[in-house]
Amino acid sequence: MPMRCPEMTCRPLGRERRRKPLALAAWACLSAAVAPGLAAAFHDGGVGSCERCHVMHDAVPGQVAFDGTRALLLAASSTDLCLTCHGDGGVMGLNPLNPPRELGAGNFVFLLEDDLDDAPAATSPRLAGEAAGHSIVSPALGLAADSRWSRAPGGAFPSAALGCTSCHDPHGNAGFRMLHGAGPVQGGTGTFIYPAPVAAGLPITDPGAVESRTSHSAYIAGMTRWCANCHGFYHDHGSAHFEHPVDEILDSGVRRRYERYEGDAFPSSGAAATSYLPQVPFESSAATVTGTSGPGSDGRLHCLTCHRAHASSAPASGRWDFRVYRLADDGVASGSWPLPSPYADAQQRQLCRKCHAQNHDRGMACLDCHRETVTGVMPLDP
Ligand code: HEC
Ligand code: HEC
Ligand code: HEC
Ligand code: HEC
Ligand code: HEC
Ligand code: HEC
Ligand code: HEC
Repeated sequence: MPMRCPEMTCRPLGRERRRKPLALAAWACLSAAVAPGLAAAFHDGGVGSCERCHVMHDAVPGQVAFDGTRALLLAASSTDLCLTCHGDGGVMGLNPLNPPRELGAGNFVFLLEDDLDDAPAATSPRLAGEAAGHSIVSPALGLAADSRWSRAPGGAFPSAALGCTSCHDPHGNAGFRMLHGAGPVQGGTGTFIYPAPVAAGLPITDPGAVESRTSHSAYIAGMTRWCANCHGFYHDHGSAHFEHPVDEILDSGVRRRYERYEGDAFPSSGAAATSYLPQVPFESSAATVTGTSGPGSDGRLHCLTCHRAHASSAPASGRWDFRVYRLADDGVASGSWPLPSPYADAQQRQLCRKCHAQNHDRGMACLDCHRETVTGVMPLDP
């Protein structure tokens, strides 16, 4: 049964309206300089933008209609559609050994890796790209659902349905990066109970934008709860092998450590005003995209302190590789792209050390001891 568009958003376009399939090519590859003014508010349902994504026809003369059962997209799936514009050079590169610039979320190109495991005792079979993070499903790109988790760990969202529109609203909204707020998502595949996070990000249409210590996503509030829409408060006791608080104000001891730590070579000579590290970001009401200060009194741990939202070149979408002893070991055993270390020190260890001063690791990665084994016991005491 034909379904009509919401009147407010879809005016009859009369003569003006034309199908422009070729226009897509001009939009492909956002990194290739989309003029910021021109691109502004593309997703906000601006008149005429429907045809950039939907097949349209005049079921009722002068009115744009969909068939009501499918969204009649210009691509085989929602995810494939998004990637016609956000693909190469955007959130999905072509070569996992030469990823596009980092804007904050990490890149899905690492799902194409054949091996990510740089642990001293590597697993067999190897940890392939599906372990790099959110395994978006795209038959066109040969990307299948993650074979290890049928549902979101700690939650119920089905891996087989995971795609861009599981998290983002294709029609745009006022929230950060158009992330879904509370309510049903993907036609009811899941239902979010927590609102979209409050944050700000780098302008994706500026080809010069790239994450750095002075230019980065600014996390203000609510990220952990947003992830909890699908994962619950993962790690905070429950099913995770690694237990850790996930939504907690940093106490004064951790804050002082964060402010003074400039890597293992300079563990206490840093200054509070320049201590912000985008590889270990905290949430704060004072966060800005150009901010360089350490956590204030409301600095908070959140899911993206340790993870990227899309994927990374380390298992579990880590902001750094959790399995290596020294960051310089990242990529060595696997041949995968080494995540850049923020510190120029070949001996630099896990970035957990930005918050924790413990020196009891006996030459092993933190997780080698701070992760329950499959049988539920912690390994050796130090
Ligand atoms: C950026 C691409 C894009 C644009 C632009 C866009 N849509 Fe959509 N639309 C989608 C996708 C993708 C879906 C499928 C939703 C999903 O995957 O959850 C969809 C679904 C729909 C649906 C089905 C019901 C629903 O919300 O799921 C309607 C109706 C719709 N769009 C109307 C419109 C109208 C009207 C416009 C113009 C004002 C528009 N769309 C512009 C991508 C787009
Ligand atoms: C026809 C090209 C096109 C398609 C298809 C498209 N986008 Fe976009 N998208 C853009 C442009 C241009 C911008 C930058 C301008 C803007 O923010 O409106 C953008 C911006 C974004 C942003 C950043 C918004 C912000 O606040 O900075 C997100 C997230 C996004 N798109 C997600 C999606 C998703 C998810 C889909 C698939 C449902 C999709 N896009 C499909 C062109 C496209
Ligand atoms: C729409 C539901 C949804 C939301 C929201 C969501 N996830 Fe997930 N996540 C999943 C599903 C489903 C899986 C399992 C399939 C997979 O690994 O791709 C998963 C897997 C993961 C993994 C394991 C990846 C791997 O390959 O081992 C991590 C880490 C993760 N999510 C972190 C997060 C973080 C952090 C957030 C918030 C920024 C978040 N997720 C938000 C659905 C979601
Ligand atoms: C599991 C949820 C999730 C999925 C799935 C997801 N995104 Fe995102 N995306 C996010 C979050 C959260 C951010 C903000 C990350 C940050 O700034 O740390 C983001 C950021 C972005 C940005 C801003 C640029 C950047 O790299 O930070 C774009 C564009 C975008 N997403 C597009 C997409 C497209 C296209 C897809 C599908 C191919 C997709 N996203 C799938 C959660 C998701
Ligand atoms: C202090 C750092 C840290 C924070 C904060 C954190 N994680 Fe993790 N996460 C990890 C580490 C380390 C692993 C790898 C654990 C392992 O190999 O057992 C991991 C693994 C995961 C996995 C993959 C499944 C698994 O157990 O290996 C998911 C899903 C996940 N985290 C989701 C989340 C979500 C959702 C949040 C916020 C609610 C979050 N994480 C907050 C460090 C963190
Ligand atoms: C942004 C700061 C931050 C980072 C990064 C961080 N932690 Fe923590 N960690 C905390 C806070 C806050 C607590 C709560 C206890 C406290 O205040 O010391 C905590 C607690 C712990 C505990 C004690 C847990 C308990 O239940 O008592 C361990 C062990 C730990 N962290 C290990 C790690 C490991 C391993 C990593 C890296 C994968 C890591 N942390 C990364 C801030 C951090
Ligand atoms: C050789 C095993 C081992 C390694 C490797 C290891 N730890 Fe621990 N850690 C322990 C043990 C055992 C305890 C005390 C028992 C407990 O509370 O879990 C502990 C306690 C802690 C605590 C709780 C506070 C305290 O002092 O009791 C933190 C925080 C911590 N470790 C952080 C780290 C970080 C960060 C790393 C990696 C840089 C790391 N550990 C590496 C074994 C280890």
